[in-house]
Amino acid sequence: MERFITPKQLEEDRFQEKGIRPQSMQEYIGQTKTIEKLDIFMKAAKLRGEALDHVLLYGPPGLGKTTLSAIIANEMEAGIKITSGPAIERPGDLAAILTSLKPRDILFIDEIHRLSRQVEEVLYPAMEDFAIDIVIGKGPGARSVRLDLPKFTLVGATTRAGQLSAPLRDRFGVICRLQLYETEELARIIERSASILSIPIDEPATLEMARRSRGTPRIVNRLLKRVRDYAQVKGTGLVTRDVAKEALDMLEIDAIGLDAVDRRLLASMIENFDGGPVGLETLAASTGEETATIEDVYEPYLMQIGFLQRTPRGRVVTNKARLHLGYLAVEDSQQMQFNIEETSNDGRKV
Ligand SMILES: Nc1ncnc2c1ncn2[C@@H]1O[C@H](COP(=O)(O)OP(=O)(O)O)[C@@H](O)[C@H]1O
Ligand SMILES: [Mg+2]
Repeated sequence: MERFITPKQLEEDRFQEKGIRPQSMQEYIGQTKTIEKLDIFMKAAKLRGEALDHVLLYGPPGLGKTTLSAIIANEMEAGIKITSGPAIERPGDLAAILTSLKPRDILFIDEIHRLSRQVEEVLYPAMEDFAIDIVIGKGPGARSVRLDLPKFTLVGATTRAGQLSAPLRDRFGVICRLQLYETEELARIIERSASILSIPIDEPATLEMARRSRGTPRIVNRLLKRVRDYAQVKGTGLVTRDVAKEALDMLEIDAIGLDAVDRRLLASMIENFDGGPVGLETLAASTGEETATIEDVYEPYLMQIGFLQRTPRGRVVTNKARLHLGYLAVEDSQQMQFNIEETSNDGRKV
């Protein structure tokens, strides 16, 4: 079963995301650097009446990549075709999509790191020269014909920019890395979603839920839905901080958004491996999760909050995590901090 706090899209999200997905730049909360950058490039392209440069969006799931691609199309007043790396099986599939595009259209390819090599090779000339080479006929009589395409914009999304081949990555004019959201931003997202879904909620509740949603809009919206259920059954319907707390405690999501699997993972690293370094494979085995899932989905948040560090020799649990999980008392950690500050780089006391 998927973890409740998974940032991957679940069936239940698909239904509710429809109504609350932002449609314009104004509605899109946070990611200010990316928005600022895109806004300038889009305005410039529009002034020149050209297609926007190809855009690569990367970052963990649930941060708004798909949402942003649709907003780009809206803002550019262009059409959008949506597909994904695994869905394009053969070069011919991609050729069919490309030849159906109109000038300035957006082609959104989700999970673009999963394109096959042969399909990727069709994409190179399409992105660079707006043309594809088609082979007509078979055997000795076969000949290659170059077909011009309209000037379009490819928007690629991926959770793993590192897995993209260099030639593909180099063909994107605009590369945007989406960041985990700040608490204040998530609180605003909850407020917005609650108002669209007519869920009565007060401000302390939005902040409480924001802190438990792992920097991820998709999770925040999912929490909101569950907390609303709880408020209706156990309370008056109004979502207050207490109601939110009780509902999320019941779901075993703690004050900073960790669930039982996170706590087990960290505890196992502390108890069985003395806090690390622990290899990714070992972590995967001890949690029953795939290595890719740990890397793309769970680690970004644990690293962001300073609970886990990546070193060349493996993952290491920090004292901050030990403190949160009760392996360390506050006085111990202060003492340690003191020792660190008093010790110079070469280990001598100063
Ligand atoms: N910046 C944002 N402001 C408000 N809501 C957002 C934002 N980004 C994402 N969301 C919400 O989170 C959900 C997941 O976003 P999505 O674009 O599908 O993520 P991704 O494609 O990166 O996995 C969307 O349905 C949307 O409602
Ligand atoms: Mg998506």
